[in-house]
Amino acid sequence: MRKERGIFDKFHKTIDELNGKGILLVAGDPPNLMTIGWSTIGTIWHRSIFTVMVRPTRYTFEKMEASRTFSVCIMPPDYKKQVAFCGVKSGRDVDKIAHCGFTMEKGIRIETPWIGESLIHYECRIIHKHRLDPSTLEEEIDRQCYPKKDYHMVYYGEIVGVYSEEEER
Ligand SMILES: Cc1cc2nc3c(=O)[nH]c(=O)nc-3n(C[C@H](O)[C@H](O)[C@H](O)COP(=O)(O)O)c2cc1C
Repeated sequence: MRKERGIFDKFHKTIDELNGKGILLVAGDPPNLMTIGWSTIGTIWHRSIFTVMVRPTRYTFEKMEASRTFSVCIMPPDYKKQVAFCGVKSGRDVDKIAHCGFTMEKGIRIETPWIGESLIHYECRIIHKHRLDPSTLEEEIDRQCYPKKDYHMVYYGEIVGVYSEEEER
C-alpha cells in the first residue's frame, strides 16, 4: 500500500540512491524513463524543491520541455539491471517501460505517472528552469563534465507529494 510521507522523510534514502545506482526520472506523455544521479533536494522560495539536471541531447529533455510536472522513483535493490538499462538506452530507440516490464500508475497529485514497482516516489511540479551558464562555471568542471558543451537544463520541481510502501521505512 502506498502511503503519503513527510516531504523530507525519505531524504537520506534518496541521496544514497542518487549516489549509488541512480534513480528514475519519469517525464512526458506518453512517459519516458531516464536514470539520474545529479540532483539536489532542499528548500528554496519557501518551497520544497527537487532539482533534476537533463542534458539537451536526452530524449527526456524533449519530454521535460513539453511537461509541467515530473515524478522521481526510487527502485528496490533487485531492480539494479533495469535502472542501469534506463541510463544507457534512449527512449528514442526503445520503449524502456515495456522493456523493463514496469507498471505505470496514475499520478496522485500530478499528471505524470509513477512506477508501481518503486519503493518511494516523489511528485513534482516544474516552477523554474534554467540552462547551466558556462561563463560562471568552474573551469575544471567545464572541462571534466562538458567536453561536448552540452550544458544541462536544470529543472526545479516543487515537491507536491512523497509516497512509499507501507513497510518501507
Ligand atoms: C547512474 C546514472 C546517472 C545518470 N544521471 C544523469 C543525469 O543526472 N542527467 C542526465 O542528463 N543524464 C544522466 N544519465 C544519463 C542518462 O540516463 C542516459 O543518457 C539515458 O540513456 C537518457 O535516456 P533518454 O534519451 O531516453 O532520455 C545518467 C546515467 C546513469 C547510468
